[in-house]
Amino acid sequence: MKYGFFDDANREYVITSPRTPYPWINYLGSEGFFSLISNTAGGYCFYKDARLRRILRYRYNNVPIDMGGRYFYINDNDSDEIWNPGWSPCKTSLDSYECRHGMGYTRITGSKFDLEASVLFFVPVGLDAEVQKLTLKNNGSAPKKIKLFSFVEWCLWDAMDDSSNFQRNFSIGEVEIDNSTIYHKTEYKERRDHYAFYSVNAPINGFDTSRDDFIGLYNGFDAPDVVMSGKPKNSVADGWAPIASHYIEVELAPNESKDFVFVLGYIENEFNEKFAPDIGASGTPHPTTSGGRTQNIVNKKRAHELIAKCDTSEKADKLLAELRAHWDELLSIYTVNSPDEKLNRMVNIWNQYQCMVTFNLSRSASYFESGIGRGMGFRDSNQDILGFVHQIPSRARQRILDLASTMLRDGGAYHQYQPLTKKGNHELGSNFNDDPLWMILSTAAYIKETGDVAILDEVVPYENKEELNASLLDHCKRAFNHVITKVGPHGLPLIGRADWNDCLNLNCFSATSGQSFQTTEGKDGKVAESIMIATMFAFIGPEYAKMCRIKGDETEALRAESEIAKMNEIVLKHGWDGEWFLRAYDDFGKKVGSKDNEEGKIFIEPQGFAVMANLGDTEKTLDSVDKWLNSDHGLVLNQPAFTRYILEYGEISTYPPGYKENAGVFCHNNAWLICAAAHVGRGDKAFEYYSKIAPAFREDFSELNKTEPYVYAQMIAGKDAGRHGESKNSWLTGTAAWNFAAVSQYILGIAPDYDGLVIDPSIPKDWDGFTAERTFRGAKYNITVKNPNKVSKGVKSLTVNGKAIEGNKIPAMASGEHEVEVILG
Ligand code: GLC
Ligand code: GLC
Repeated sequence: MKYGFFDDANREYVITSPRTPYPWINYLGSEGFFSLISNTAGGYCFYKDARLRRILRYRYNNVPIDMGGRYFYINDNDSDEIWNPGWSPCKTSLDSYECRHGMGYTRITGSKFDLEASVLFFVPVGLDAEVQKLTLKNNGSAPKKIKLFSFVEWCLWDAMDDSSNFQRNFSIGEVEIDNSTIYHKTEYKERRDHYAFYSVNAPINGFDTSRDDFIGLYNGFDAPDVVMSGKPKNSVADGWAPIASHYIEVELAPNESKDFVFVLGYIENEFNEKFAPDIGASGTPHPTTSGGRTQNIVNKKRAHELIAKCDTSEKADKLLAELRAHWDELLSIYTVNSPDEKLNRMVNIWNQYQCMVTFNLSRSASYFESGIGRGMGFRDSNQDILGFVHQIPSRARQRILDLASTMLRDGGAYHQYQPLTKKGNHELGSNFNDDPLWMILSTAAYIKETGDVAILDEVVPYENKEELNASLLDHCKRAFNHVITKVGPHGLPLIGRADWNDCLNLNCFSATSGQSFQTTEGKDGKVAESIMIATMFAFIGPEYAKMCRIKGDETEALRAESEIAKMNEIVLKHGWDGEWFLRAYDDFGKKVGSKDNEEGKIFIEPQGFAVMANLGDTEKTLDSVDKWLNSDHGLVLNQPAFTRYILEYGEISTYPPGYKENAGVFCHNNAWLICAAAHVGRGDKAFEYYSKIAPAFREDFSELNKTEPYVYAQMIAGKDAGRHGESKNSWLTGTAAWNFAAVSQYILGIAPDYDGLVIDPSIPKDWDGFTAERTFRGAKYNITVKNPNKVSKGVKSLTVNGKAIEGNKIPAMASGEHEVEVILG
């Protein structure tokens, strides 16, 4: 069953029923100001950091699920029925409903009693504000008198404190009301230099800023007291829960329509310009303030400037046009036209869009990540770069340097950092021993995309301390050495707290409920080894050697290569189980992920990297993965699933079988097998795995899939689960970046390399071919791939502008448009 449809021409997903199987959301903003908005206008916004600069309040795990957002309440001709354009929270049945989630904007339209209300929500490029353009249109034959109420609820900035420290919070809320703008200035008079505001470009007939006055203590969002009675209370919040609601009386003749532009903005002021200089002295009317207080009036200059940029319909339309142009440009860098419509819409639109969102937010704020728990993950953010680097390389470059600055001198890294401070997070610390390798991979991806080798000479600190400055190449070197110097009894890399799989905690041994599996250290960590890290090393290590060679350090390149060869030998000796690669050795030195184990005989993670690195018997490895792990909804992480808690394995065995890391379809690692299958020429298999997890292919059974059909989810419940095929944790997942790499570089096979663009498709045999356009280092390549002999892989000939080229790499050309023809066979 579907709840909408893809409108590819407009790059939108159009939701036609508000009762989606879960809130289906979109993200607005991609620089400083971010909003999460559901298909019923639920959600919240924040500035840069969802924990420390939360602007709107949102209650997770609510009943009903998605309550709280930016709501417009409409009372038309004094009817008893009040309604919202997005159906919720009143849930009055509408005559029509539609939500269009597009690239950085969402448009929600509802109609009732011949009145159409359409709200366009977006964050303009370069502005720290959410613009809401509301259009009311009278489609009836009689004039209408409408009472319109806007509504947002302020969060008291620190989202953690906001949801826990009520004894303080209920006394500190402060607002100002100045004409049509409501200011939220809690804590501004002391140490904060920021405030938020909510304005509308029309005179208002009243307002409310106290939640309890607006809603009533015993009502819900669906029946606010003020809206039900049709009368604003002009309440001025003083403590408790500050909100912002404008009240506007609108008259509409038949066929008439009116626009209102609301702006929800965020402002930072310099310390010595925080307060209004002119109150009293110049005779400026005093704004209405909390407690009637006349001191500490906020300096509104910057708010006025921001509002002036979007205070007419025309200005809002122009800003939207700019946003669209921005996305046109970003999405023109890589486009494909293949025989598969769903693949096209993933590659051309939604997967790239999701890559931007994950790059911006890592795993911090979604409908499954509260924005409080974690900031930017070291391994996550490094991997996110793989799917984003072609879009805005300069931002990827900065991110790489920021991440490198949180590395430790021994080549390890702080596992997470806060986006606002960019400082490593001490609570979680380091010792996730896969972390360093991802630094090499992201740096390599950046150089391959841009050719900017100079990044390796950038001077970056360790531990965010300037006195510990060294080149980025030095950081990569220490990352590389981290793997080979921290080895266990077999000479394999020690696993640390965990490798990529946060839940395989071989040194934890936690028998006390409530302990964190990631930070409890039951063992000294000198025995448990990760074959996954070893196979990652086989795949990623050579990139370090290549970078050294590019920098002219042949000696170091040779040293690196010999270390890799050594490790590969050890992996083949101690890491191969006969038909697949082992997963690890535990703290007792026992095999994990072996045919000898009762449960968890085979794990997915090491297999893909080993195959991509041409390690061992690649065919046998892939056969085993297909035989043991394949399901109707993708490849599960391990088999058989764990049914009991295993002290020496940790969190992985806490999950019920089929969920999360315990035999769930963890989409992120499916991408590694898509890459691996494509790499060895199993184009049909690669496409099969791809189409099982790519959301557009799952749209037809949305009632089962549950999360948005336009973005990847972290996990689909595996075959052992009670709800096989149900997705969870959509949006913020490494799947976005990795699957974009898998489909664009491995299946379609258009892959940047240090010295050119490699074309090496691995496609389903029945495809006649495809065309693609790729802008790469300033030149544009119009690529036509023909498949006359119905093969999956193998470039028989390649011509550029009519001239044949040896091999399958197009040397980078500085500019111009180039016709590339590839014949497979
Ligand atoms: C989550 C984490 C990621 C980890 C993965 C597997 O997605 O963000 O860092 O690798 O789970 O445990
Ligand atoms: C990852 C895993 C999750 C685990 C968490 C611990 O996100 O997916 O299962 O609980 O890391 O931080």
